[in-house]
Amino acid sequence: MKVKLASNYGFCFGVKRAIKIAEEYDNSATMGPLIHNQDEINRLKNDFKVGLYNNLSDVKDNDTVIIRTHGIPKNDLKHLRTLNAKIINATCPFVTTPQQIVKKMSGEGYSILIFGDADHPEVKGVQSYAENQDDVHIVLEPHDLKNIIFKNNKIATVAQTTKKKEKYLEIVNYLILKNKEVRVFNTICDATFENQDAARELSKEVDVMIVIGGKNSSNTKQLHSICLENCPDSYLIENQTELDNHWFLNKKLCGVTAGASTPDWIIQQVVDKIESIN
Ligand code: F3S
Repeated sequence: MKVKLASNYGFCFGVKRAIKIAEEYDNSATMGPLIHNQDEINRLKNDFKVGLYNNLSDVKDNDTVIIRTHGIPKNDLKHLRTLNAKIINATCPFVTTPQQIVKKMSGEGYSILIFGDADHPEVKGVQSYAENQDDVHIVLEPHDLKNIIFKNNKIATVAQTTKKKEKYLEIVNYLILKNKEVRVFNTICDATFENQDAARELSKEVDVMIVIGGKNSSNTKQLHSICLENCPDSYLIENQTELDNHWFLNKKLCGVTAGASTPDWIIQQVVDKIESIN
């Protein structure tokens, strides 16, 4: 089977940076999974003895704690600072930006609207920076805005870094129709756009498309949904063991892309396996 890679795929700047930090601090542990990729987390554990805390209470005196790429809630960070532990912040700078915007704008009396997934660790972290927790709202769809009562007549909005800009524009349009003052911050990350645009183009020209990444990674799931729009035979896998030969029956060209947390060695294993299919 012939394979064509997307012109942009895989690790983004923030993930590369977090992994480099983790490799520098062997025998440390991360607060929450460092990135959304279990295989890479396992590699860091095996090769660099980087462990994982599930709870703040797991942190012991003199531990080295690495803060995950997606960030953690403000009060958790505050609590860690009260402990006798070394804190290494691997939060992606593009995630720190919306945290700081929310802090500043809510401090200036703006109601806060976050476009994102309320259950995502990044969004929970960003939300936690609002001065007034009663006036920070999270929506995934424009119609979710109907039920929201903002406490102020001025609104500031940020987006989860991996969200689609088209949907953000719909949300911003709705806000502007109903409110006098809306401050819009485009906090969506370019790395996501670049991988998405390349996946969109490639999925138009191939017979089957393989998206590699964590099944709980929001940017990988988005890549998959973009590919499905153009190529119904698009599959999301975490590694080469999940490939199914039936997907490639009567197909000539297979496109491959990967989410922003997928390491090159996993991508290479998948490509090798697909190329070996007759
Ligand atoms: Fe950061 Fe963008 Fe990656 S926000 S973690 S560089 S997808």
